[in-house]
Amino acid sequence: MSLPFMDIFKDWASEYDNFVTGQDPEYKDVFVNYDFMIAQAVKYAKGDVVEFGPGTGNLTNYLLQQGLNVRAIEPSEEMAAIGEKKTGITFERGDFLNFKQQPADTFISSFAFHHLTDTEKDIAIGKYAELLNEGGRVIILDTIFNSEEEKQSMIEHYTSLGFNNLVEDLNREYYPLKETMESIASRNGFDYHDTQLNRFAHLQILEKKTIKKPFDLIGHTPMIEITAFPLNKGNRIFAKLEHHNLGGSVKDRLGLNIIMKALDRGDIKSGQVVEATAGNTGIGLALVCQKFDLKLRVYVPEKFSVEKQSIMRALGAEIINTPTEKGMLFAREEALKYAQETGAFFTNQFESPDNPSSYEELANEIIADVGRVDMIVAGAGSGGTFTGLAHYFKDAHKVIVEPEGSILNGGASGSHRTEGIGVEKWPDFLPKDLIDAVETISDIDAFTKVSELAKLEGLMQGSSSGAALQAALNQQQHFTNQNIVVIFPDASDRYLSQAIFNIKGE
Ligand SMILES: Cc1ncc(COP(=O)(O)O)c(C=O)c1O
Repeated sequence: MSLPFMDIFKDWASEYDNFVTGQDPEYKDVFVNYDFMIAQAVKYAKGDVVEFGPGTGNLTNYLLQQGLNVRAIEPSEEMAAIGEKKTGITFERGDFLNFKQQPADTFISSFAFHHLTDTEKDIAIGKYAELLNEGGRVIILDTIFNSEEEKQSMIEHYTSLGFNNLVEDLNREYYPLKETMESIASRNGFDYHDTQLNRFAHLQILEKKTIKKPFDLIGHTPMIEITAFPLNKGNRIFAKLEHHNLGGSVKDRLGLNIIMKALDRGDIKSGQVVEATAGNTGIGLALVCQKFDLKLRVYVPEKFSVEKQSIMRALGAEIINTPTEKGMLFAREEALKYAQETGAFFTNQFESPDNPSSYEELANEIIADVGRVDMIVAGAGSGGTFTGLAHYFKDAHKVIVEPEGSILNGGASGSHRTEGIGVEKWPDFLPKDLIDAVETISDIDAFTKVSELAKLEGLMQGSSSGAALQAALNQQQHFTNQNIVVIFPDASDRYLSQAIFNIKGE
């Protein structure tokens, strides 16, 4: 920091608190809501905090009251003398650029960063980027200008009021433009958020960008609007694209939740996990089992897609094929028998309450994505996705989707080509009164919608997404002005061997 400032601080020290409390009319507009502003800034602080330019210690006291571990770094002896008395802690001598460099969670300053030139600001933020711990932040409460025009018009305004000290200040100090702060932040690997708190003061939060790790890719899937199909007035269809999960389907959410809960409870004693699945559950479980060094055995009726079986194997699962004609119920019996004989942990997706509870985060994401949800449409294999969402969206119109040959509509169990959905036995965890409508969709309709989604929207989805879309289109006909959310569980590339784009399946 340039030396002339040190003299200014000398003069300012004894008067500083008169400025911030609005007793100097010239600086009243700069410090309107001072206490509120520093309280807001402190809300973002966490962990080990480094405060630059604590001055007379007002912000420092707020930080200390939060129980934070604070290093206060002040260049001016005069300021520090007052601040140390007020806060009861010893201030280190130094400034934004010269200080003992140690890792920290927060770098914070109030009404001080403008003493640095723009180049110095850039160097300082670069230093903080290196020192910040993961998830760390830089918090800068200070005057900045939204544009050069705004700065000039403020200078004119305060000149006309005869506020010579303030005007001199505005001309002398390095109050940056917002766009300068944005580019400094971005150059140094930060996301930048700015909230303007009064005519002069902006609360700027710089969050260190973090590079994701593979498991961060479970959840937070994109939501898109489907617009290629005619809808009743005011109806909108939004699709949650669950193939963006790490293992390529909605079932990663289940794999993560079921295994984490079982590990927390100490249920996995033998180091082995067993399940019966059409494949996506197996992939979700395999990902998580691999991470925790658990063995996984899955029972899969042999008709199901070879792609999913290959992926499970690649993730380290052992696959036992069961005869197609004996269905999923037989695969479940085999899995249970194996668990009883060996002590392996049976995740039991068809009965475990940890299945529906896997979708709480999905529900939260949906609310964050679209706000109001009038109708929710989800397919049922185990029924977990639908049940989890239906508990959450109690007031919405809740539509459960099944293929022909599934028993939810009271019909007999039979074969179908639509993969991943279809129920052979009513799920224990699914109360009937959670369902407002059952949509039973033919394979032809599901596969037609898969092809149309590819041709009209460029979306390559699995057949259970096609069925869910057809169900949403059927249901929307009874309503207007509805926000309709449909779950698309996985993508078509894992069904190429099943001729997914060949509607008649020949
Ligand atoms: C492709 C696909 N769609 C839908 C579902 C249905 O999900 P749930 O078991 O939660 O009912 C599954 C389940 O495996 C699936 O794999």
